[in-house]
Amino acid sequence: MERKGFDGATVVSFESRLADAMTESIRRRGGQPLSAPSLREIPLSENAEAFSFAEKLFAGRIDLLICMTGVGTRILLEALATRYDKQQVLEAFSRLTVVARGPKPIRVLKENNIPITITVPEPNTWLEIIHELDHNSRSLALEGKTVAVQEYGVSNEKLIQALKQRGANVLQVPVYRWALPQDTAPLLQAIREITDGKVQMALFTNAAQVDHLLRFASGEGLEPSLREALKRMVITSIGPMTSEALHEHGLSVDFEPSHSKMGILVNEAADHAAELIREKKEGPARRYVNTKATQVSAVGRQDSPFLKACRREPTSVTPVWIMRQAGRYLKEYRQIRDRVSFLELCKSKELAAEVAIAAAERLKVDAAILFSDILLIVEPMGLTLEYGSENGPEISGQVAAAADVDRLPEIEPAESLKFVFDAVQLTRQCLNTKIPLLGFSGAPFTLAAYIIEGGASKSFVNTKRFMYSDPGAWNALLQKISRGLVKYLNGQIEAGADAVQLFDTWVGCLGPEEYEQYVLPHTRSVIQGIKPGVPVIHFGTGTAGFLRQMREAGGDVIGVDPRVELDQAWAAIGTDVGIQGNLDPVVLFAPREVIRAKVKRILEQAASRPGHIFNLGQGILPNTPEENAVAMVEYVHALSQR
Ligand code: CP3
Repeated sequence: MERKGFDGATVVSFESRLADAMTESIRRRGGQPLSAPSLREIPLSENAEAFSFAEKLFAGRIDLLICMTGVGTRILLEALATRYDKQQVLEAFSRLTVVARGPKPIRVLKENNIPITITVPEPNTWLEIIHELDHNSRSLALEGKTVAVQEYGVSNEKLIQALKQRGANVLQVPVYRWALPQDTAPLLQAIREITDGKVQMALFTNAAQVDHLLRFASGEGLEPSLREALKRMVITSIGPMTSEALHEHGLSVDFEPSHSKMGILVNEAADHAAELIREKKEGPARRYVNTKATQVSAVGRQDSPFLKACRREPTSVTPVWIMRQAGRYLKEYRQIRDRVSFLELCKSKELAAEVAIAAAERLKVDAAILFSDILLIVEPMGLTLEYGSENGPEISGQVAAAADVDRLPEIEPAESLKFVFDAVQLTRQCLNTKIPLLGFSGAPFTLAAYIIEGGASKSFVNTKRFMYSDPGAWNALLQKISRGLVKYLNGQIEAGADAVQLFDTWVGCLGPEEYEQYVLPHTRSVIQGIKPGVPVIHFGTGTAGFLRQMREAGGDVIGVDPRVELDQAWAAIGTDVGIQGNLDPVVLFAPREVIRAKVKRILEQAASRPGHIFNLGQGILPNTPEENAVAMVEYVHALSQR
């Protein structure tokens, strides 16, 4: 095989100890090496703060130790072992109140048989630490206590402030394994070349390099421009620990070698350099979609928490997903939308699969949803659909009278909406086999309202006038839509959807009597037409006044909005049916402790009863902070463990 090599590209390496060897290998494979050593190893025996902590500890003057990171806890123990008897150190630790911030320090403490007094729940921020200290049943008054905080890299000012406010004497215990090199000129020079756009690829060979690079750049006032420039470069990482450090700093990894060895990293990065650099130029790499994937079996999924909850079977944790989870609030979605229009995105099976899977993986939710839109069905009805105006989607083609309804063609999705079925199939093939995939459509009423109004509406005057003045034409329109929807949803199921959701987003503009008369029979006919055995989620907003009727229309799970209390809604629809919801999407703009408290409240209302699927009560809003959506999912999982 011909070896392609870097072909003249500039490749930066942050390696220190083996800097010369790296430079040489990059050159040998045809690259322009740029060597930027970023670390100097500090002997463990030079950790002065750790030793002064130990002296206080042995003298019984420390009450509590907060272990912030796994790496730091390990360095602390190793540093102390260079001077003291290890047994003596471990015994002193065992007498302490030890707080472990998350899974990594927990692992290190357990390995050393150090008892943990308090484990901090996810997402392991300073807020959860303080919350645990304030509310732990062991009732730890901090007033007058000496609290040691193990630090690695950065100190957490907010935590320290909060501890001091509670009257604690705080002893910060920073530990070190790495420092900046004595000579930082090459590092500064490399950062300048990177921000000037002269470097095509970066090689990270150690996790601490990432931290040092960004901290050093920040000290020079260059961090924002460095981050921007790194996004346009190919980032390679020697292995999982280094990749994790990159991810923690918000950087994405484009390439990892088959084995975590420097020589292999250089050689394999050189082999793939041409395509990696090209993909980077063209936009975000397709990380999730592999068009050769073939798996379709549903065996591993039937026992997933999501599908079990659809069947109202008990689950070990409450499943959660987010309506409109693939959307503008996600950075990765915006990057793709910078290149293609929304309709192009819906009509490309590769891109649709990419964004659906990226969203599910980013959020770590229990279900993925097909990427599409409820309105695409209007095109095969001979109407024109446009997105992008300030008023939301616009539909043109008059539907105002009985004659217009007669003119609308029957929807034959097998041809006109084949791209949706292709997207379902590819998404299913590339998605983690354990994660169920939802198909969806609009419900007959919401689609009819969109068609008649030509877009969004506040009062639905046209829709209601049509409904009241010509019930015959109204029924004909909804029947026509419903026949199309049955074929459309069964087509998605045939293509690989594990469950389907009907969105009746606008139905709340009606009262109970109108719902029963003008909507219920049509929605029921759609749900009855769906392939038996496939769970149906029937969602609507503004439905508090007619939940019973909505349930009568059908669905294994009823989706409710935030304007009802979940327990009351469940009582109204009856407990022999599942429920989905119902966090207000605006809560995701609130501080974390508020999000956590609201999640907890909904879980308490559901009372671990089988059949609850956690979700927002309406689609997620476009400018929602991404991290809050991720945190919400974590809270649901952490707080619902059974
Ligand atoms: O991730 C997912 O949930 C899958 C995709 C999905 C979209 N729309 C993608 C989309 C789903 C399930 C929908 C349903 C949908 N579409 C509803 C019902 C959901 C609800 O919130 O009750 C409605 C009312 C629509 C109609 C619609 N489509 C509107 C009003 C808009 C524009 C306003 C907005 O929210 O952005 C769209 C466009 C649309 N559909 C976008 C996405 C990701 C945004 C397009 C973009 O700007 O990139």
